[in-house]
Amino acid sequence: MIYAKRTHFCGELRSEHVDSRVTVNGWVNRIRDLGGLYFLDLRDRTGLIQLYFDVEAFPELKSFRNEFVISASGEVRMREEGTKNPNMATGDVEIVVDRVEVLNESAVLPFPVSDEEQMRGVSEELRVKHRYLDLRRPSMQKKLRLRAECVRLIREYLDKRGFVEIETPIFTKTTPEGARDYLVPYRLEPGKFYALPQSPQQYKQLLMVGGMERYYQIAKCFRDEAQRADRQPEFTQLDLEMSFVHQEDVLELTEGLTRSLCNSVIDSFALDLDPVGEFPRLTYDEAMRRYGTDKPDMRFGLELFEVSDLVAKSEFGVFSGAIEEGGVVKGICYPEGAELSRKQVGELEDFAKSFGAKGLAQLPIKEGYGGIAKFLDEKTISSIREVSSAKDGDLLLFVADSNETACNVLSRLRNEIGERAGLADPRKLVFCWVLDFPLVFWDEDEGRWDAAHHPFTGPKAEDIQFLESDPGRVRADCYDIVCNGVEWASGSIRIHRPEIQSRVFSLLGIDEKTQNERFGHILDAFKLGAPPHGGIAPGVDRLVMLLLGEENIREVMAFPKVGGGYDPMMDSPSAIEEEQWKEMGLQLREKSDKKIID
Ligand code: AMO
Repeated sequence: MIYAKRTHFCGELRSEHVDSRVTVNGWVNRIRDLGGLYFLDLRDRTGLIQLYFDVEAFPELKSFRNEFVISASGEVRMREEGTKNPNMATGDVEIVVDRVEVLNESAVLPFPVSDEEQMRGVSEELRVKHRYLDLRRPSMQKKLRLRAECVRLIREYLDKRGFVEIETPIFTKTTPEGARDYLVPYRLEPGKFYALPQSPQQYKQLLMVGGMERYYQIAKCFRDEAQRADRQPEFTQLDLEMSFVHQEDVLELTEGLTRSLCNSVIDSFALDLDPVGEFPRLTYDEAMRRYGTDKPDMRFGLELFEVSDLVAKSEFGVFSGAIEEGGVVKGICYPEGAELSRKQVGELEDFAKSFGAKGLAQLPIKEGYGGIAKFLDEKTISSIREVSSAKDGDLLLFVADSNETACNVLSRLRNEIGERAGLADPRKLVFCWVLDFPLVFWDEDEGRWDAAHHPFTGPKAEDIQFLESDPGRVRADCYDIVCNGVEWASGSIRIHRPEIQSRVFSLLGIDEKTQNERFGHILDAFKLGAPPHGGIAPGVDRLVMLLLGEENIREVMAFPKVGGGYDPMMDSPSAIEEEQWKEMGLQLREKSDKKIID
C-alpha cells in the first residue's frame, strides 16, 4: 500500500511550524463534529495534534470513527485566541487538512481507548484480551518506554564494567527456586521433558566455571506458582554473576547500579519521587526482631517491641497464658491512635485476626488509659511505655502468640498502620539490604530442612561445622534487597566446592543417587576448577512497578497473564491436535473441565 508518509510526528508541531505543509500518520483519538465545524485529534506515539476539516470538502468524514488509522496533509496554522488548549503540548496550533486517506478502519471498540476516565471502569481481563488496543494509551506507552529505559541503563552500567551479556537456554532441566516447573515434552524420546528455567541459576554458575568472570542477562524465568499482585508465571530478572568476589563486591555493584538507574529514570521521566539514597543494611535476625519480617518497609520506623518479660506474671490471662505456652507478647505503636474510633480499632483487630491473631490487645496512652490497663499495675504500664517509646496520644497494640504468628501479624499490621497513618510516603523508594539469612528452614509439612533461598547458596565459612549437627544455626552468605516492603532482589555467594555442595544436598534430603541424576553436571563442574563466585538477581518487572507506583505487575508487562496463567488474548494455554498427542507419545488419563485454582 502506497500512502503519504509522515513528515512530522503529531506531538512535535509547534508555532514555529505555522505555514508549513505537513503530513501526519496516526490514529483518530477523538472527533468533535460541531455541525459546520469538524475537528479531529490525531494520535501517534509522540502525542496529539488537532486537525481541522472543511466538512463540505470531505463527505467521507461521516464514516470516521475513533481508532481509524489515517494519513492527513495540510498546512499548520495558529489556533485562534480563546481556542488554544494549554493542556496539550501542541495546543497552540492545528493542521488545516486538504488531503486525507484512510489507511485502515476500526470496528466498534470494546473499550474507549482515548478516554482515561472511562477506562478506569474497564475490566482488566478485557484490557488484556485486547492488549494491542490497551497499549495505544499514552499511559501504557509510558510504562513500556520506562521499562525499556531501565533495561538500557542496566546494559550500559554493566557493559562499562566488563560484564558480558550471555543468553542461557530456555529448554533445560529443573532448577529449583521453590516453585513447580513448567515442562515441555520431548518428541524424540516420549516420556522425557525439558523444564523451563525458574531462573538461570545453574547456567550462570557454570559460566563462572567457564571462566567468564562477569556475566549478566535480562532473563526470562518461568515459575508455576500461585499468582499474586507482584508475581507472574513468566517474568524477567536481571541475572548477574561474578567470580573472585566477596559479598561486599556484589553489594557495592548492585547498589551502585540500582541508585544510578533509579535516579536517572526519576529524572528523565520526571517521576514524582525523591532521589534514591544509600541502602541501609540489616541482618535477617535484626529485621525479624525490629520489624517482624525479612521484607521491612523502611520508609517509616514503627518498630515492634517485646514485653514478654514485663507481662509474664500479669493478671491478663491472654498474656501470661501465651508466655506459659512458650509464646511471646509483642506490640506496635500506632502514633496518635489513642483517639481512634471503636470502629477503626475493630477494623485493625479484624485485620490482625485475618492473619491468624486470636485478638489484638489495646493500651491507649491517654488520661486514665483504658483497654488492658485494668490488668496491669502502674509500674508495668510505665515500663511498657518505655520499651515502646509511646507518647501521649498513641495507641499500643499487642499480639500474644507464638513468635512466628506474632511477627507475621504485627509486620502486616505495621504496613497497614503505615498506610493508614500516612507514613508510607509514596514519593519515597527506600531500598535496604537484608543480610545473613539462615541457610535452611525446617519445613513442618514435609518434615525436612528446606533451602531458605536455593540449594546453591553458600553457608558462612564459620558455620559449615554445624551443617549436620545443628543445621538451623547455619547462616548463609546470602542477601536480599527489599524496597518499600517488597522483595526486589536475592543473591548469595555460592558454594563452589563439590563436597560442600554434596553435604548441602544431603541436608536437603537429596540422596547421593538423586544428586548425581539431577545435579551431576554441577558437581562434576565443581571438581574441575570452579572459582569462588557469587551474584544476585533483581526483578525487572518489580523495579518498574516500584518506579511507577503500580500495585499490579501486569500493568508493567506488555502481554501479561491473568488468573491461573491464562492469556485471554491468544486464548492460551489451548488444546493440541490429536496428532500432536501421538507425536509426543502422550495420552490424557482424565479430561477435566474443572480449573484448579492455586
Ligand atoms: P529469587 O527466586 O529470589 O532468586 O528471585 C529473584 C527476584 O526475581 C523476582 N521474582 C519474580 N518477579 C515476578 N514474578 C515472579 N513470580 C517472581 N519470582 C521472583 C523478584 C525476586 O526478588 N536465582 C536466584 C537469584 C540468585 O541467587 O542470584 C533467584 O532466582 O524480584
